[in-house]
Amino acid sequence: MRIGILTSGGDCPGINATIRGVCKTAINHYGMEVYGIHSGFRGLIDNDINPLTEKDLSGLLNLGGTILGTSREKPFKKKSMGNKPSLILENIRNLQLDCVVCIGGNGTQKTAYKLSQLGVNVVSVPKTIDNDIWGTDMSFGFDSAVTIATDAIDRLHSTASSHQRVMVIEVMGHKAGWIALYSGMAGGGDVILLPEIPYNIRNIGNTIIERLKKGKPYSIVVVAEGIQTADGKKAAEYIAQEIEYETGFETRETVLGYIQRGGSPTPFDRNLATRMGGHATEMIANGQFGRMVALKGSQISSIPLEDVAGKLKLVDENHDLIVQGKRMGICFG
Ligand code: F6P
Repeated sequence: MRIGILTSGGDCPGINATIRGVCKTAINHYGMEVYGIHSGFRGLIDNDINPLTEKDLSGLLNLGGTILGTSREKPFKKKSMGNKPSLILENIRNLQLDCVVCIGGNGTQKTAYKLSQLGVNVVSVPKTIDNDIWGTDMSFGFDSAVTIATDAIDRLHSTASSHQRVMVIEVMGHKAGWIALYSGMAGGGDVILLPEIPYNIRNIGNTIIERLKKGKPYSIVVVAEGIQTADGKKAAEYIAQEIEYETGFETRETVLGYIQRGGSPTPFDRNLATRMGGHATEMIANGQFGRMVALKGSQISSIPLEDVAGKLKLVDENHDLIVQGKRMGICFG
């Protein structure tokens, strides 16, 4: 068999480990040929595709980013579609690719589904720091982002307590609060704001004032980038301003940004990526197309792309970390 592999959407730690897992398994175990498709779906449109050998797959396990490059190209987007789908089909046919492996987030899963509806054999792998892909308990990249964000929160603690300030830190996550919840709890945040839970600035202010009364004259506020703000202001900027106004406390903000997406994956993400990559190749060998690899509990399985496409996995407000956090006095809004 001859397979093509692409990476699409925002990058994250663990993509290269997945490429390695897919391709090494394909070459070593199944005797398949592997082609690297560059810059996501754009490479399929422009025929920017070349064979990958074992040498290309060395040194990838701990390497951040993606050796194939990525883009947010959406070939089925009505406005800019033109003849992109037919170019894609032509290039896949000419190269005689038996399957295309699509590694990506929500947008990628949607495009992969549309591609499979055109008759292309597709297997996809969920990838995002946001952890918001429907049908998988976790995507690789998430643990790395949470580790980086937790380290940042740890560091803000010491400067917050030295200066007796409120520190607001904004973390990524798009429309979901997974990174804020996991890093906020692991970093000992006092207030954690998620897009899934509406907040009241009075409650937040009271939490901070109560802490002062208990002899804790500083607070850490972790906010997800996707929370609602007035006038479309950036999350941290808005919340810091409102807290200062509400409490009179000196407040500073930090936007962690792309640092959460860069660099080396954690050991957990390396192993998750390796497992998901290997399973993707096993699915190809078994002819299980039109499906996304998924983590369910501690097992790797798969789910039809039509069940994934267009859905978002958001944080449930009854998530155990929220329930336990509230009992401990952490304010969730
Ligand atoms: O999906 C990953 C992510 O980093 C989100 O957390 C963030 O909202 C978005 O991508 C940023 O997108 P871009 O790379 O287009 O700036």
